[in-house]
Amino acid sequence: MKNGSVYIETYGCQMNFADTEIVLGVLKKQGYTVVQNPEDADIILLNTCSIRDNAEQRIYGRLGNLKNLKTKKPELVLGILGCMAERLRKDLIEEKKIVDVVVGPDEYRRLPEYIDVAFNGDKGIGVKLSRTETYDDIEPHREDGLSAWISVMRGCDKFCTFCVVPFTRGRERSRSLNSIVKEIDELSSRGFKEVTLLGQNVNSYRDGENDFADLLAAAAKVDPSMRIRFTTSHPQDLSDKLLYTIAEHQSICNYIHLPVQSGSNRILELMNRTYTIEHYLNLIEKAKKIIPGVSFSTDIIAGFPTESWEDHFATLEVMRQVRYDGAYMFKYSPREGTKAYKMGDDVPEEVKTKRLQEIIDLQQQISYEINQNLIGKEEIVLIEGFSRKSDEFLSGRTDTNKVTIIPSQADIKPGDYVRVKINKATSATLFGEYISHIIFEKSSVVLSA
Ligand code: 5AD
Ligand code: SF4
Repeated sequence: MKNGSVYIETYGCQMNFADTEIVLGVLKKQGYTVVQNPEDADIILLNTCSIRDNAEQRIYGRLGNLKNLKTKKPELVLGILGCMAERLRKDLIEEKKIVDVVVGPDEYRRLPEYIDVAFNGDKGIGVKLSRTETYDDIEPHREDGLSAWISVMRGCDKFCTFCVVPFTRGRERSRSLNSIVKEIDELSSRGFKEVTLLGQNVNSYRDGENDFADLLAAAAKVDPSMRIRFTTSHPQDLSDKLLYTIAEHQSICNYIHLPVQSGSNRILELMNRTYTIEHYLNLIEKAKKIIPGVSFSTDIIAGFPTESWEDHFATLEVMRQVRYDGAYMFKYSPREGTKAYKMGDDVPEEVKTKRLQEIIDLQQQISYEINQNLIGKEEIVLIEGFSRKSDEFLSGRTDTNKVTIIPSQADIKPGDYVRVKINKATSATLFGEYISHIIFEKSSVVLSA
């Protein structure tokens, strides 16, 4: 099998970033080298996202740029991976003649074969979805760092009516608990301080008798100085057991990403979200009781088919009630092949824009108020490095994932946990002063240095 140098760009969700590390793991095993510049590459891969139309348009734009490189260097192999590969398949090759390889999320193991086909002048297409592929045994290619992603399950069986993911990523399946724990242990030995367990629907994780709460508990026991995060949770599968597990382990972050999508029961039903807003709000109340100090983030879609102003106001009301720390907010984008696609796209663009803006403004105000309330309080911050703006400041994150800035000092290094007193806040950032270091012992006892 031939090999060469590969350059890869990743778009979309964290799952895609984790998949890119798997893809590079597969290719490195075959002897490929990874390069950081497209001009130096024999193979350029784009790991793509189909979630909304603008994500796909961005890729088409990028393909347009790469056309020049291919004209200069016709032997260059250009490949599309990820959700767009799955969704558009042959169209990509036929319409965009410059694409040589199209490989979907469940066929990365065979990517070297498909690239070989392209080196031999044909098109390499692998878009079969699998019911079993989890890449459990593949060692991902990870640069050293503090924070790592681990996909613990793949696919989604929820079939929200607006979403392409069940079609592009196939059915749910989970990795084995043991191999995930082993991977976290290796990351701990390499000095990583944070892992995020990923799945489109992470709390439907299951390995035999073990559910997601068991996985979280096992992950938390590996190294108490490692923060454990997870995303994305579906309100239907957020069990009491899971909430108690989060409360019980200091290293599992008190932060839950729990997409609500809409505040209107009528729209939630059309979306096939399988919960009512009352159920959702009860869940939030329960989580707040079981996990003191827990914070939430969410996803919201503005302008789903038939959404009225009343439905929209219901969404704003839920935001006021829950008071999310943060939100990912989107305009509805019709995706061919989904059930919602058949409902039409009847909310005019300017109405979607107005509703989205109201949602964004409200969230910004809530985030600002929540952060203002932290002034005078203490937070534990995992230091990541110098702040983006200046070496005179260090940047890190709280357990609830808020970026926090403190003045630099020689004895604080990336990877340190420090106690910080917050003295200023914007809607996106906290500012504070150093109080002391925190050392987490293997026995899980917390000591202040
Ligand atoms: N249009 C707009 N937003 C969407 N999402 C998923 N599909 C669509 C769509 N067709 C959003 C949802 C989901 C997040 C990952 O992306 O809010 O939770
Ligand atoms: Fe898409 Fe719904 Fe599955 Fe999330 S839970 S990936 S929104 S179908």
